[in-house]
Amino acid sequence: MRTEFWQLHKNNDAKLLKKAGDLLRQGELVAFPTETVYGLGANGLDSEAVKKIFVAKGRPSDNPLILHIADIEQLKKLSDNISPMALKLAEKFWPGPMTLVVTKSAIVPDVVTAGLDTVAVRFPANKDAQALIKEAGVPIAAPSANISGRPSPTNAWDVAEDMNGKIAAILDGNECSVGVESTVIDTTGEVATILRPGGITPEMIKDLLGSVVLDPALLGSDVAKPKAPGMKYRHYAPKALVYLCADHAELKRNIALALDNGKKVGVIADTDCDGCISKIYSSVENFTSKLFTFLRDLDRSNVDVIYVLTVEEKGLGLALMNRLKKAAGKK
Ligand code: TXA
Ligand code: MG
Repeated sequence: MRTEFWQLHKNNDAKLLKKAGDLLRQGELVAFPTETVYGLGANGLDSEAVKKIFVAKGRPSDNPLILHIADIEQLKKLSDNISPMALKLAEKFWPGPMTLVVTKSAIVPDVVTAGLDTVAVRFPANKDAQALIKEAGVPIAAPSANISGRPSPTNAWDVAEDMNGKIAAILDGNECSVGVESTVIDTTGEVATILRPGGITPEMIKDLLGSVVLDPALLGSDVAKPKAPGMKYRHYAPKALVYLCADHAELKRNIALALDNGKKVGVIADTDCDGCISKIYSSVENFTSKLFTFLRDLDRSNVDVIYVLTVEEKGLGLALMNRLKKAAGKK
């Protein structure tokens, strides 16, 4: 299949977005920018179209998808039982990097939810994403637009690296500003439960609701069946081995040993390092927005090993460390 690569913000957005919306309605796949990561979109109400997502990504069929909407009202069609807590979260943090798990209505196909009786819904803040959803006129099912297991794409070229030849079109918009996937919150119980940490932090949710809990699967307990099925897979992994270092002393020691052993070394830290390919971050926000491009760039440089100076697991650092631990092969 020939994949169209359409650059937005060149004065013909209306035409390109219309073509992309047409492709989606015809059951084709279109990748598009969001503020978190690029999404691989299909008409979320068309089972045959949604199945193509699983094929293009090589994604296990027991991992449910997020439906993207461009208006809070659309949520009411996808669920007939939205809790007051869910509405409060939606009103505060949408549009934005937050996904709500709610009980599903009959119009949501089983292939989207992997047979669960709940559905995950997100209203993204990215204007191109909103325009595309409106143009398509249907909720768009979209996982991150990477081959399953690889780092998520945060620019259109990284989407092309994984999806060229497999999907109808890629919409090239801005680089993603947040850089990691949305916070997934289960709103079907008594207390809001974070199933996947992201740009909306536990602190922000607690401020709004008074309480929030982290799913036990996030705290390292060995949960056979995490509530967000996707969280059980190894993810975000570059080809090189990834090692996490808690401080500069540990980082230096590891790098020296690896260089002595003739390894090609990649480093992600707040300073550069002699003899290594260095990726430098200036803050937790900056590191989060660059994480996946750092990992993909280091892969393209064919490093053998990547050492990472870690950050504190609070605020956005919780989401960043969650992705880093998975990239390092920890569950
Ligand atoms: O930021 C994002 O959320 C991006 C962009 C494209 O919007 N999308 C994304 O989708 O990260 P994906 O498919 O890579 O991750 C969806 C996560 C998975 O961990 C999945 O298991 C969980 O959401 N999920 C989906 N539906 C669920 C449900 N009904 N109950 C619990 N978890 C669910
Ligand atoms: Mg993903």
